[in-house]
Amino acid sequence: MHPYSLKGSKVAPLPPRQSLVFLIALFGLYVCYLSFNQIRLENKGGENGAEKQTGHVCTRPVIPDGELPYVHFPKPEGYNRAECSCTPVRFFAIVSMQRSGSGWFETLLNSHPNISSNGEIFNRMDRRENVSSIVQALDKLYNLDWLTSAAKNECTAAFGFKWMLNQGFMDYHDDILSYLNKKGVSLIFLFRRNTLRRLISVLANNYDRDAKQLNGTHKSHVHSEEEAEILAKFKPELDVSTLISNIRDVEKYMGDCLDYFNTTRRMILYYEDIISNRNALLQVQKFLGVPVRKLVSRQVKIHTRPLPDLIRNWEDVNSKLNGTEYARFLDGADYLK
Ligand SMILES: *[C@@H]1O[C@H](CO)[C@@H](O)[C@H](O)[C@H]1NC(C)=O
Ligand SMILES: *[C@@H]1O[C@H](CO)[C@@H](O)[C@H](O)[C@H]1NC(C)=O
Ligand SMILES: *[C@@H]1O[C@H](CO)[C@@H](O)[C@H](O)[C@H]1NC(C)=O
Ligand SMILES: *[C@@H]1O[C@H](CO)[C@@H](O)[C@H](O)[C@H]1NC(C)=O
Ligand SMILES: *[C@@H]1O[C@H](CO)[C@@H](O)[C@H](O)[C@H]1NC(C)=O
Repeated sequence: MHPYSLKGSKVAPLPPRQSLVFLIALFGLYVCYLSFNQIRLENKGGENGAEKQTGHVCTRPVIPDGELPYVHFPKPEGYNRAECSCTPVRFFAIVSMQRSGSGWFETLLNSHPNISSNGEIFNRMDRRENVSSIVQALDKLYNLDWLTSAAKNECTAAFGFKWMLNQGFMDYHDDILSYLNKKGVSLIFLFRRNTLRRLISVLANNYDRDAKQLNGTHKSHVHSEEEAEILAKFKPELDVSTLISNIRDVEKYMGDCLDYFNTTRRMILYYEDIISNRNALLQVQKFLGVPVRKLVSRQVKIHTRPLPDLIRNWEDVNSKLNGTEYARFLDGADYLK
Protein backbone atom coordinates (compact mmCIF):
# COMPACT_ATOMS: atom_id res chain seq x y z
CA MET A 1 0.00 0.00 0.00
CA HIS A 2 1.24 3.48 -0.82
CA PRO A 3 2.28 5.03 2.46
CA TYR A 4 0.65 8.36 1.67
CA SER A 5 -2.55 7.01 0.27
CA LEU A 6 -5.52 7.95 2.37
CA LYS A 7 -7.76 5.58 0.64
CA GLY A 8 -7.19 2.65 2.87
CA SER A 9 -6.25 4.43 6.08
CA LYS A 10 -8.33 3.99 9.17
CA VAL A 11 -9.88 7.44 9.40
CA ALA A 12 -12.63 7.83 11.96
CA PRO A 13 -15.95 7.54 10.20
CA LEU A 14 -17.78 10.85 9.56
CA PRO A 15 -20.49 11.39 12.16
CA PRO A 16 -23.98 10.76 10.93
CA ARG A 17 -25.97 13.75 9.78
CA GLN A 18 -28.16 13.98 12.92
CA SER A 19 -25.28 14.30 15.32
CA LEU A 20 -23.72 16.95 13.08
CA VAL A 21 -26.90 19.00 13.25
CA PHE A 22 -26.99 18.49 16.98
CA LEU A 23 -23.38 19.70 17.36
CA ILE A 24 -24.04 22.80 15.27
CA ALA A 25 -27.12 23.62 17.33
CA LEU A 26 -25.11 23.17 20.53
CA PHE A 27 -22.42 25.47 19.24
CA GLY A 28 -25.05 28.07 18.32
CA LEU A 29 -26.47 27.96 21.81
CA TYR A 30 -23.00 28.37 23.25
CA VAL A 31 -22.35 31.46 21.14
CA CYS A 32 -25.68 32.94 22.25
CA TYR A 33 -24.80 32.26 25.86
CA LEU A 34 -21.42 33.96 25.50
CA SER A 35 -22.75 37.09 23.86
CA PHE A 36 -25.57 37.31 26.37
CA ASN A 37 -23.06 37.30 29.18
CA GLN A 38 -21.07 39.96 27.43
CA ILE A 39 -24.07 42.26 27.08
CA ARG A 40 -24.79 41.82 30.76
CA LEU A 41 -21.20 42.64 31.59
CA GLU A 42 -21.21 45.73 29.42
CA ASN A 43 -24.33 46.99 31.10
CA LYS A 44 -22.88 46.41 34.52
CA GLY A 45 -19.54 47.98 33.72
CA GLY A 46 -20.76 51.04 31.83
CA GLU A 47 -19.99 53.64 34.50
CA ASN A 48 -21.46 56.52 32.62
CA GLY A 49 -23.34 54.50 30.06
CA ALA A 50 -26.87 55.37 29.13
CA GLU A 51 -27.97 51.89 30.16
CA LYS A 52 -26.88 52.08 33.75
CA GLN A 53 -30.46 51.87 34.97
CA THR A 54 -31.25 48.59 36.59
CA GLY A 55 -34.60 47.47 37.82
CA HIS A 56 -36.52 48.66 34.82
CA VAL A 57 -35.53 49.38 31.29
CA CYS A 58 -35.27 52.93 29.98
CA THR A 59 -35.37 53.53 26.27
CA ARG A 60 -31.96 54.66 25.17
CA PRO A 61 -32.06 58.40 24.53
CA VAL A 62 -31.08 59.57 21.07
CA ILE A 63 -27.70 61.09 21.79
CA PRO A 64 -24.61 61.29 19.61
CA ASP A 65 -22.05 58.68 20.70
CA GLY A 66 -19.47 61.31 21.61
CA GLU A 67 -21.84 62.79 24.19
CA LEU A 68 -22.76 59.54 25.93
CA PRO A 69 -20.17 60.01 28.70
CA TYR A 70 -21.93 63.26 29.59
CA VAL A 71 -25.39 61.77 30.03
CA HIS A 72 -26.37 60.21 33.34
CA PHE A 73 -29.14 58.49 35.24
CA PRO A 74 -28.42 59.43 38.84
CA LYS A 75 -30.15 57.68 41.69
CA PRO A 76 -30.42 60.06 44.64
CA GLU A 77 -30.36 58.55 48.10
CA GLY A 78 -32.77 61.06 49.58
CA TYR A 79 -35.70 60.52 47.22
CA ASN A 80 -36.94 58.57 44.25
CA ARG A 81 -36.76 60.22 40.85
CA ALA A 82 -39.92 58.26 40.09
CA GLU A 83 -41.28 59.01 36.63
CA CYS A 84 -38.14 61.05 35.90
CA SER A 85 -35.76 58.14 36.50
CA CYS A 86 -35.50 57.58 32.76
CA THR A 87 -34.88 61.25 32.01
CA PRO A 88 -31.18 61.55 31.24
CA VAL A 89 -29.36 64.23 33.23
CA ARG A 90 -26.38 66.32 32.19
CA PHE A 91 -24.04 67.48 34.90
CA PHE A 92 -22.70 70.98 34.50
CA ALA A 93 -20.79 73.71 36.30
CA ILE A 94 -20.79 77.40 35.53
CA VAL A 95 -17.18 78.48 35.95
CA SER A 96 -16.83 82.19 36.50
CA MET A 97 -15.43 85.08 38.51
CA GLN A 98 -17.20 87.43 40.89
CA ARG A 99 -19.03 90.31 39.19
CA SER A 100 -19.09 88.70 35.76
CA GLY A 101 -22.83 88.30 35.42
CA SER A 102 -22.93 84.73 36.66
CA GLY A 103 -25.63 85.46 39.25
CA TRP A 104 -27.84 86.84 36.52
CA PHE A 105 -26.91 83.99 34.19
CA GLU A 106 -27.85 81.46 36.83
CA THR A 107 -31.28 82.98 37.37
CA LEU A 108 -31.78 82.76 33.60
CA LEU A 109 -30.90 79.07 33.62
CA ASN A 110 -33.12 78.38 36.61
CA SER A 111 -36.08 79.87 34.78
CA HIS A 112 -35.94 76.78 32.58
CA PRO A 113 -38.20 74.00 33.87
CA ASN A 114 -35.60 71.29 33.26
CA ILE A 115 -32.47 73.06 34.52
CA SER A 116 -31.40 73.22 38.13
CA SER A 117 -28.36 75.28 39.11
CA ASN A 118 -27.63 75.31 42.81
CA GLY A 119 -25.58 78.40 43.48
CA GLU A 120 -22.04 78.74 44.79
CA ILE A 121 -21.72 75.54 46.76
CA PHE A 122 -18.02 76.24 47.38
CA ASN A 123 -18.49 79.66 48.95
CA ARG A 124 -18.13 77.77 52.23
CA MET A 125 -14.52 77.22 53.23
CA ASP A 126 -15.05 73.80 54.79
CA ARG A 127 -16.31 72.40 51.49
CA ARG A 128 -13.19 73.44 49.62
CA GLU A 129 -10.62 72.86 52.32
CA ASN A 130 -8.97 70.01 50.43
CA VAL A 131 -9.53 67.85 47.40
CA SER A 132 -11.43 65.21 49.33
CA SER A 133 -13.92 67.69 50.76
CA ILE A 134 -14.42 69.09 47.24
CA VAL A 135 -14.97 65.63 45.78
CA GLN A 136 -17.37 64.76 48.57
CA ALA A 137 -19.50 67.83 47.86
CA LEU A 138 -19.42 67.19 44.12
CA ASP A 139 -20.40 63.54 44.51
CA LYS A 140 -23.36 64.50 46.63
CA LEU A 141 -24.40 67.25 44.23
CA TYR A 142 -24.15 65.14 41.09
CA ASN A 143 -26.05 62.35 42.77
CA LEU A 144 -28.86 64.94 42.90
CA ASP A 145 -28.85 64.78 46.68
CA TRP A 146 -28.16 68.51 46.98
CA LEU A 147 -31.45 70.19 47.73
CA THR A 148 -31.69 73.94 47.31
CA SER A 149 -34.32 76.40 46.20
CA ALA A 150 -33.34 75.47 42.64
CA ALA A 151 -35.04 72.08 43.02
CA LYS A 152 -37.70 71.50 40.41
CA ASN A 153 -40.97 69.66 40.24
CA GLU A 154 -40.24 68.95 36.62
CA CYS A 155 -37.85 66.31 35.39
CA THR A 156 -34.43 67.84 35.74
CA ALA A 157 -32.36 67.28 32.62
CA ALA A 158 -29.39 69.46 33.58
CA PHE A 159 -28.06 69.74 37.10
CA GLY A 160 -25.19 71.90 38.25
CA PHE A 161 -23.89 74.83 40.25
CA LYS A 162 -21.72 77.91 40.05
CA TRP A 163 -18.01 77.70 40.72
CA MET A 164 -15.82 80.77 41.10
CA LEU A 165 -12.18 80.46 40.09
CA ASN A 166 -11.03 81.48 43.58
CA GLN A 167 -13.13 78.82 45.29
CA GLY A 168 -10.57 76.04 45.01
CA PHE A 169 -11.14 75.60 41.30
CA MET A 170 -7.71 76.91 40.32
CA ASP A 171 -5.88 75.72 43.44
CA TYR A 172 -6.70 72.08 42.77
CA HIS A 173 -7.09 72.25 39.02
CA ASP A 174 -5.35 68.94 38.26
CA ASP A 175 -7.51 66.86 40.58
CA ILE A 176 -10.63 68.74 39.64
CA LEU A 177 -9.97 68.27 35.93
CA SER A 178 -9.67 64.52 36.28
CA TYR A 179 -12.75 64.38 38.48
CA LEU A 180 -14.83 66.36 36.00
CA ASN A 181 -13.73 64.28 33.04
CA LYS A 182 -14.27 61.00 34.86
CA LYS A 183 -17.66 62.10 36.09
CA GLY A 184 -18.71 63.43 32.69
CA VAL A 185 -19.35 67.04 33.68
CA SER A 186 -19.84 69.77 31.07
CA LEU A 187 -18.42 73.20 31.83
CA ILE A 188 -19.80 76.62 30.93
CA PHE A 189 -17.10 79.25 31.29
CA LEU A 190 -18.61 82.66 31.82
CA PHE A 191 -16.24 85.60 31.72
CA ARG A 192 -16.33 89.30 31.02
CA ARG A 193 -14.46 90.64 28.06
CA ASN A 194 -14.31 94.11 29.55
CA THR A 195 -12.43 93.44 32.76
CA LEU A 196 -12.32 97.19 33.47
CA ARG A 197 -16.08 97.21 33.86
CA ARG A 198 -15.81 94.13 36.01
CA LEU A 199 -13.31 95.93 38.22
CA ILE A 200 -15.75 98.82 38.71
CA SER A 201 -18.42 96.35 39.71
CA VAL A 202 -16.07 94.66 42.17
CA LEU A 203 -15.14 97.97 43.80
CA ALA A 204 -18.73 99.19 43.95
CA ASN A 205 -19.89 95.92 45.44
CA ASN A 206 -17.10 96.00 48.03
CA TYR A 207 -18.09 99.52 48.92
CA ASP A 208 -21.72 98.57 49.42
CA ARG A 209 -20.75 95.71 51.68
CA ASP A 210 -19.96 98.36 54.31
CA ALA A 211 -22.08 101.26 53.15
CA LYS A 212 -25.27 99.17 52.81
CA GLN A 213 -26.85 101.76 50.58
CA LEU A 214 -30.20 100.06 50.20
CA ASN A 215 -31.91 100.89 53.47
CA GLY A 216 -29.12 99.36 55.48
CA THR A 217 -28.79 96.08 53.62
CA HIS A 218 -26.01 95.02 51.31
CA LYS A 219 -27.15 93.69 47.95
CA SER A 220 -24.98 92.23 45.21
CA HIS A 221 -27.92 91.89 42.82
CA VAL A 222 -31.03 94.00 42.56
CA HIS A 223 -34.53 93.55 41.19
CA SER A 224 -35.62 97.11 40.47
CA GLU A 225 -34.45 100.16 38.54
CA GLU A 226 -34.64 102.25 41.73
CA GLU A 227 -32.27 99.97 43.59
CA ALA A 228 -29.92 99.84 40.60
CA GLU A 229 -29.99 103.61 40.41
CA ILE A 230 -29.02 103.98 44.06
CA LEU A 231 -26.15 101.51 43.83
CA ALA A 232 -24.84 103.04 40.60
CA LYS A 233 -24.52 106.46 42.25
CA PHE A 234 -21.31 105.38 43.90
CA LYS A 235 -18.35 106.05 41.61
CA PRO A 236 -15.20 104.19 42.62
CA GLU A 237 -11.77 105.68 42.23
CA LEU A 238 -9.36 103.33 40.51
CA ASP A 239 -5.74 103.02 41.51
CA VAL A 240 -4.06 103.92 38.22
CA SER A 241 -0.61 102.83 39.37
CA THR A 242 -1.70 99.20 39.59
CA LEU A 243 -4.45 99.31 36.98
CA ILE A 244 -2.55 97.76 34.08
CA SER A 245 -0.98 94.99 36.12
CA ASN A 246 -4.35 94.36 37.72
CA ILE A 247 -6.06 93.92 34.35
CA ARG A 248 -3.17 91.80 33.10
CA ASP A 249 -3.38 89.49 36.11
CA VAL A 250 -7.09 88.94 35.63
CA GLU A 251 -6.64 88.18 31.94
CA LYS A 252 -3.87 85.72 32.73
CA TYR A 253 -6.01 84.07 35.39
CA MET A 254 -8.81 83.50 32.88
CA GLY A 255 -6.37 82.34 30.21
CA ASP A 256 -4.69 79.86 32.54
CA CYS A 257 -8.06 78.52 33.57
CA LEU A 258 -9.09 77.92 29.96
CA ASP A 259 -5.76 76.16 29.36
CA TYR A 260 -5.97 73.90 32.40
CA PHE A 261 -9.46 72.79 31.50
CA ASN A 262 -9.10 72.59 27.74
CA THR A 263 -9.80 68.85 27.66
CA THR A 264 -13.27 69.14 29.18
CA ARG A 265 -16.56 69.25 27.31
CA ARG A 266 -17.10 72.96 27.51
CA MET A 267 -18.46 76.14 26.08
CA ILE A 268 -16.95 79.59 26.57
CA LEU A 269 -19.34 82.45 27.04
CA TYR A 270 -18.78 86.13 27.52
CA TYR A 271 -21.21 88.28 29.46
CA GLU A 272 -21.19 90.90 26.74
CA ASP A 273 -22.20 88.28 24.18
CA ILE A 274 -25.21 87.12 26.16
CA ILE A 275 -26.41 90.70 26.31
CA SER A 276 -25.89 91.51 22.65
CA ASN A 277 -26.72 88.12 21.19
CA ARG A 278 -29.78 86.30 22.44
CA ASN A 279 -28.69 83.30 20.39
CA ALA A 280 -26.09 82.69 23.06
CA LEU A 281 -28.77 81.39 25.43
CA LEU A 282 -30.07 79.11 22.72
CA GLN A 283 -26.58 77.64 22.34
CA VAL A 284 -26.37 77.13 26.08
CA GLN A 285 -29.63 75.19 26.14
CA LYS A 286 -28.48 73.02 23.26
CA PHE A 287 -25.20 72.44 25.03
CA LEU A 288 -27.12 71.30 28.12
CA GLY A 289 -29.40 69.08 26.07
CA VAL A 290 -32.64 70.73 27.18
CA PRO A 291 -35.53 71.90 24.99
CA VAL A 292 -35.04 75.53 23.97
CA ARG A 293 -37.15 78.04 25.94
CA LYS A 294 -37.18 81.76 26.46
CA LEU A 295 -35.17 82.32 29.62
CA VAL A 296 -35.98 85.18 31.95
CA SER A 297 -34.49 86.87 34.98
CA ARG A 298 -35.87 89.47 37.35
CA GLN A 299 -32.44 90.90 37.98
CA VAL A 300 -31.75 94.45 36.87
CA LYS A 301 -28.34 95.56 35.67
CA ILE A 302 -26.68 98.04 38.02
CA HIS A 303 -24.03 99.81 35.93
CA THR A 304 -25.61 100.77 32.65
CA ARG A 305 -24.00 104.13 32.02
CA PRO A 306 -20.98 104.97 29.89
CA LEU A 307 -17.67 104.52 31.68
CA PRO A 308 -16.89 108.23 32.27
CA ASP A 309 -20.01 108.36 34.49
CA LEU A 310 -18.93 105.35 36.50
CA ILE A 311 -15.37 106.22 37.49
CA ARG A 312 -14.49 109.10 39.77
CA ASN A 313 -11.00 109.61 38.34
CA TRP A 314 -12.01 108.98 34.75
CA GLU A 315 -9.45 111.36 33.24
CA ASP A 316 -6.56 109.53 34.90
CA VAL A 317 -7.87 106.13 33.95
CA ASN A 318 -8.48 107.24 30.41
CA SER A 319 -4.99 108.59 29.89
CA LYS A 320 -3.44 105.59 31.59
CA LEU A 321 -5.11 103.10 29.29
CA ASN A 322 -5.18 105.14 26.09
CA GLY A 323 -2.61 103.76 23.72
CA THR A 324 -2.26 100.46 25.59
CA GLU A 325 -3.60 97.08 24.57
CA TYR A 326 -6.47 97.71 27.01
CA ALA A 327 -7.67 100.89 25.35
CA ARG A 328 -10.52 98.85 23.93
CA PHE A 329 -12.06 98.73 27.41
CA LEU A 330 -12.48 102.51 27.39
CA ASP A 331 -15.03 102.39 24.66
CA GLY A 332 -18.07 101.98 26.85
CA ALA A 333 -20.23 100.78 23.99
CA ASP A 334 -19.16 97.16 24.32
CA TYR A 335 -22.74 96.02 24.66
CA LEU A 336 -26.25 97.18 23.94
CA LYS A 337 -28.50 97.86 26.80
C1 LIG B 1 -10.36 67.79 54.41
O1 LIG B 1 -11.23 68.79 54.94
C2 LIG B 1 -12.29 68.26 55.71
C3 LIG B 1 -13.28 69.37 55.99
O2 LIG B 1 -12.68 70.48 56.59
C4 LIG B 1 -11.68 67.64 56.96
O3 LIG B 1 -12.71 67.15 57.78
C5 LIG B 1 -10.76 66.50 56.53
O4 LIG B 1 -10.12 65.96 57.66
C6 LIG B 1 -9.72 66.99 55.53
N1 LIG B 1 -9.08 65.83 54.95
C7 LIG B 1 -7.77 65.80 54.68
C8 LIG B 1 -7.27 64.56 54.04
O5 LIG B 1 -7.02 66.72 54.97
C1 LIG C 1 -38.74 68.43 31.31
O1 LIG C 1 -39.70 68.28 32.34
C2 LIG C 1 -40.93 67.78 31.88
C3 LIG C 1 -41.93 67.81 33.04
O2 LIG C 1 -41.50 67.03 34.12
C4 LIG C 1 -40.74 66.36 31.36
O3 LIG C 1 -41.98 65.85 30.87
C5 LIG C 1 -39.75 66.42 30.21
O4 LIG C 1 -39.46 65.11 29.78
C6 LIG C 1 -38.47 67.10 30.67
N1 LIG C 1 -37.63 67.30 29.49
C7 LIG C 1 -36.42 66.80 29.41
C8 LIG C 1 -35.66 67.10 28.16
O5 LIG C 1 -35.93 66.13 30.28
C1 LIG D 1 -36.34 102.04 51.84
O1 LIG D 1 -37.36 102.11 52.78
C2 LIG D 1 -38.38 103.03 52.48
C3 LIG D 1 -39.31 103.13 53.66
O2 LIG D 1 -39.58 101.86 54.22
C4 LIG D 1 -39.10 102.58 51.21
O3 LIG D 1 -40.14 103.46 50.88
C5 LIG D 1 -38.09 102.49 50.10
O4 LIG D 1 -38.71 101.96 48.94
C6 LIG D 1 -36.91 101.61 50.48
N1 LIG D 1 -35.91 101.75 49.45
C7 LIG D 1 -35.25 100.72 48.96
C8 LIG D 1 -34.26 101.04 47.89
O5 LIG D 1 -35.41 99.58 49.34
C1 LIG E 1 -4.37 72.26 26.39
O1 LIG E 1 -3.46 73.23 26.88
C2 LIG E 1 -2.16 72.72 27.05
C3 LIG E 1 -1.35 73.80 27.74
O2 LIG E 1 -1.53 75.04 27.16
C4 LIG E 1 -1.60 72.31 25.69
O3 LIG E 1 -0.30 71.82 25.85
C5 LIG E 1 -2.51 71.25 25.09
O4 LIG E 1 -2.08 70.94 23.80
C6 LIG E 1 -3.95 71.73 25.06
N1 LIG E 1 -4.80 70.63 24.66
C7 LIG E 1 -5.84 70.77 23.84
C8 LIG E 1 -6.64 69.55 23.60
O5 LIG E 1 -6.12 71.83 23.33
C1 LIG F 1 -5.85 108.94 23.22
O1 LIG F 1 -4.66 109.64 22.99
C2 LIG F 1 -4.60 110.25 21.72
C3 LIG F 1 -3.23 110.86 21.54
O2 LIG F 1 -2.76 111.45 22.72
C4 LIG F 1 -5.69 111.31 21.62
O3 LIG F 1 -5.67 111.92 20.36
C5 LIG F 1 -7.04 110.61 21.81
O4 LIG F 1 -8.08 111.56 21.80
C6 LIG F 1 -7.05 109.86 23.11
N1 LIG F 1 -8.27 109.06 23.18
C7 LIG F 1 -9.15 109.18 24.16
C8 LIG F 1 -10.33 108.27 24.09
O5 LIG F 1 -9.00 109.96 25.04
